[in-house]
Amino acid sequence: MKFDILTLFPEMFAGPFSDSIIKKAKENGLIEINLIDIRDYTTDKHNTADDYPYGGGAGMVLKIDPIYYALEDITDNLKKKPSNILLTPRGQRLDQKMVKEFSKEDHLILICGHYEGVDQRVSDNYIDYEISIGDYVLTGGEIPAMVLVDAVSRMLPDVLGHADSKKNDSYYRGILDYPHYTRPRTFKGMEVPPILLSGNHQLIDRWRKKEALRKTYLMRPDLLKKTEMTEQQKELLEEIKEEIEGEPKK
Ligand code: ADE
Repeated sequence: MKFDILTLFPEMFAGPFSDSIIKKAKENGLIEINLIDIRDYTTDKHNTADDYPYGGGAGMVLKIDPIYYALEDITDNLKKKPSNILLTPRGQRLDQKMVKEFSKEDHLILICGHYEGVDQRVSDNYIDYEISIGDYVLTGGEIPAMVLVDAVSRMLPDVLGHADSKKNDSYYRGILDYPHYTRPRTFKGMEVPPILLSGNHQLIDRWRKKEALRKTYLMRPDLLKKTEMTEQQKELLEEIKEEIEGEPKK
């Protein structure tokens, strides 16, 4: 998977992309990340990448021309057109389903918005997806681009060590992940749930499914409405509801 990232601040990416899993994925040739400085494609002697908004108002707007020339340079000789993604708080909110879809592509171009926004003609003519990472406003699209690269990369075959490790992720199956425990068995009086020490894998599996559902029911009931549940999950959810409703009210 190749990521081309158009940004005014390429140095921001140094840390997150040079450690841990993303670093390894790059070293193993599973992903390629190119940072492209939008300013390199400006056409005036002051390297102006932004300008005042037509119609007046606060802030600056990212200009269309450097973005166009950068995109042209990247895609000039390509047979297959990559998807162009603009990171903006006005975009569709990124979720795991979209991440999974993006991970099926082989080349993504990410454009990091900045200042008040990007000239609308960029979105209207060159963008396939406008993506937001959440309902809050950041100083620019760089951190959202890092989030997207990270989330998409870990979905690619061989990027995570364990083939299995994605399958229980929160959101992967539409619900939240179950709780995890490791040694020590007792810490300051806090115990690990005994069932996890029982060695009975069937019971452990059932417990994990139930606790994943409980967490989702309590924290993100909206996810349950969107998830197609198995018969076993439906039964477990009924048990959970009874347990919760059966508790004495405080
Ligand atoms: N730029 C600023 N805020 C953003 C957000 N929430 N998502 C994507 N890009 C952004």
